[in-house]
Amino acid sequence: MDPEFWHDRWRENRIGFHQQEFNTHLTEYWRKLGLSPGQGVFVPLCGKSHDLTWLDQQGHPVLGIEISEVAVKAYFEENDLQVQQQQKDHYSLWYKGALKIICGDFFDLKPADLQGVKGVYDRASLIALPTEYRQRYVQHLVTLLEKEAKILLVTLEYPHAEMQGPPFSVTESEIERLYHQYFNIEKVYDQDILNMDENARFKSQGLTHMSEKVYLLTPL
Ligand SMILES: C[S@@+](CC[C@H](N)C(=O)[O-])C[C@H]1O[C@@H](n2cnc3c(N)ncnc32)[C@H](O)[C@@H]1O
Repeated sequence: MDPEFWHDRWRENRIGFHQQEFNTHLTEYWRKLGLSPGQGVFVPLCGKSHDLTWLDQQGHPVLGIEISEVAVKAYFEENDLQVQQQQKDHYSLWYKGALKIICGDFFDLKPADLQGVKGVYDRASLIALPTEYRQRYVQHLVTLLEKEAKILLVTLEYPHAEMQGPPFSVTESEIERLYHQYFNIEKVYDQDILNMDENARFKSQGLTHMSEKVYLLTPL
């Protein structure tokens, strides 16, 4: 997807995807990955998510990547964190202690950037990308990860014809197609969430159904 699309969203503060609280699926299912404090966690397309803070509080070195500098700056400012910055070849690194956000393009990351990462938290990342990019995203993600890395993945599914993403609808069969070569896929949550208050914007756009699904992906 054109980075300008996201730059505009952040500049204009059209960030309906941003949650004010920790994501409940993260707090409920994260421990099922069985990671220990000290093991690194990667948060692709992280926005200014509070979930970075929760993962940091669990004792994980956290690495996010986010293309919008507005979002990265907002994360550190809004959390009152004295940030340090380093300019690298194709991105800038913003960090406070072991919590780091790369301001740059996910597709430019190299395996060396993710050294020590044992877990991935993907909420509103895969589903932020249109069909043609999702395969590229997964292909790139697996080249970046060490063999034993596990993933907690949160997706949405709705009738394609009823709404143009983002968020895009990503079906279970697509998850299977994208990930089955590399991971065991266990679905741990599946619920129609259209009637929840925070999803009123989707209902008013004419959606008749919207399922949220959570998967644990463990390496084969
Ligand atoms: C739907 S938002 C989700 C943000 C976050 N995961 C959350 O739960 O709030 C998707 C984010 O991905 C960022 N993004 C889109 N394409 C990207 C890319 N190629 N590399 C890095 N970040 C990207 C956007 O700026 C946006 O903040």
